[in-house]
Amino acid sequence: MNNSISFVPTMGALHDGHIALIERACELSSTVIVSIFVNPLQFESPDDLAKYPRDLLRDRNIALGAGATKVWAPSYEEIYPGEITKQSSGQLGTLFEGAERLGHFDGVLTVIKRLFDLVRPDYAIFGEKDFQQLFIIKRWVSQNQIPVEIIAVPTIRDADGVALSSRNSRLSPAELVSAQVINKALRSKSKDEMRKVLASEPKFELDYAELIDEETFGPVTAKTSLSRGIIAGWINGVRLIDNMRMEADQ
Ligand code: PAF
Repeated sequence: MNNSISFVPTMGALHDGHIALIERACELSSTVIVSIFVNPLQFESPDDLAKYPRDLLRDRNIALGAGATKVWAPSYEEIYPGEITKQSSGQLGTLFEGAERLGHFDGVLTVIKRLFDLVRPDYAIFGEKDFQQLFIIKRWVSQNQIPVEIIAVPTIRDADGVALSSRNSRLSPAELVSAQVINKALRSKSKDEMRKVLASEPKFELDYAELIDEETFGPVTAKTSLSRGIIAGWINGVRLIDNMRMEADQ
């Protein structure tokens, strides 16, 4: 423990996945700041932004209970006081999650830049659940030589292997059982097998199921040392994403 600052940026709607991020922050620093800011720049539709769950009192209690020393819920004006200097997530920002949500990752980087400028953390903690976000933030920090260490925390899953997400609350108990197919697919040994497993669940509508090289986020090649399965799709209109390191054959 030292005088460093660990920072956990969130948009609220906190669940056990966020608690794991805060607990990791507490292991690193005596000062743990959790921000709660629903960033309009990363929503592609005003409807989604309006529907995003907001319960500051509940979130504040969860964050403090998990060990945060400060919960900070800035206003829009505090984060974006004037003209917004947009950050770019590059071509990767238009693929996978970025293809479905245009401008999303630029919006994430833009708010992260502001949050980092205001908090000046030594460590910033992100979940592996949003692996593409984590990759884009890490690359941007390194390219821009931002003096912060990005710490990744493994995805928290329920007892049946479903990755925790605030969106899971929109699934019925039967749909949650269907969602288990994603975890099953990620335990496959190849992309084909992964897709076959997903196709076996009639309620699951596939967006993408790919294998990527963890170091480039590009396709797996002969040089790849670590590969990861990434999956996105919908169950009854609820978008679900997950990923896992794979001992893949191809
Ligand atoms: O992962 C999230 O909750 C958001 O994208 C983040 C990192 C807090 C930026 O708004």
